[in-house]
Amino acid sequence: METHLTQPNPIPKGNRLIVAVDGPAGAGKGAVCRAAATECHLAYLETGAIYRALGLLALQEQIEHPEALAQRAVTMPFSYRALGAGRFRAFLGTEDVTDALRTEAIGQAASRIAALPAVRTALLAFQRRYGDGQHVILDGRDVGTVVWPDADLKIYLTASLEERAKRRVRELQELGKNASFPEIYAAMAERDQRDAGRADAPLKPATDAIQLDTTRLTLTQSVDYVVGLVKSSLKRTDFACTESAIGSR
Ligand code: DC
Repeated sequence: METHLTQPNPIPKGNRLIVAVDGPAGAGKGAVCRAAATECHLAYLETGAIYRALGLLALQEQIEHPEALAQRAVTMPFSYRALGAGRFRAFLGTEDVTDALRTEAIGQAASRIAALPAVRTALLAFQRRYGDGQHVILDGRDVGTVVWPDADLKIYLTASLEERAKRRVRELQELGKNASFPEIYAAMAERDQRDAGRADAPLKPATDAIQLDTTRLTLTQSVDYVVGLVKSSLKRTDFACTESAIGSR
């Protein structure tokens, strides 16, 4: 798997800002991370896309055995790329699979394989290497608890199940896909339960995470809040960041 672009001027380890954003599906993680990454010049990794890419390959190649899935996790040609103007896309080899990964079927497949400890272990090194030499933001379920327990800033985004299901319906409709609210609601409830109930790296807020309930917030309000937190963290002198590197809104 490709970890990120090589940096001409890598930031030394101790000076890198690591931001972990966790929460259930539909809480707004992707939108706030894309905005924060773009405005604050951070590398961004949507860790759910890795599990989804493996879920897609598992369905296509009919892989079921945990060890075979863990092996495929290591060999799959996954990359996550910033294409500019706030666009981030997931690739398997040269194929842009971003839209293919967004279906509820792939989300369910991802959630099922994500409960397998062998798969999680196989994907850990990639997540930790990602964005090496840069300030980085990652979103997922266990970034602040397992992937980067020492992250400098941890945010836990949540929202009511009803609101999250409504958002997912809108997102699927925007992609021109059929979306039924009762079906999405039930599938999301099932996925929440599996992601939070599994023994290995369950979805839960890190004890030191800032929690934000986005149920009654507009996307802009959530984005502004998180971007503000990231900018404040970057301004702390230990991250050796200058005003010009932070950028302005
Ligand atoms: O964030 P998402 O809906 O794209 O994630 C898809 C599934 O992948 C999710 O249901 C659980 C799993 N996942 C995980 O277990 N750990 C992560 N860090 C990210 C996603």
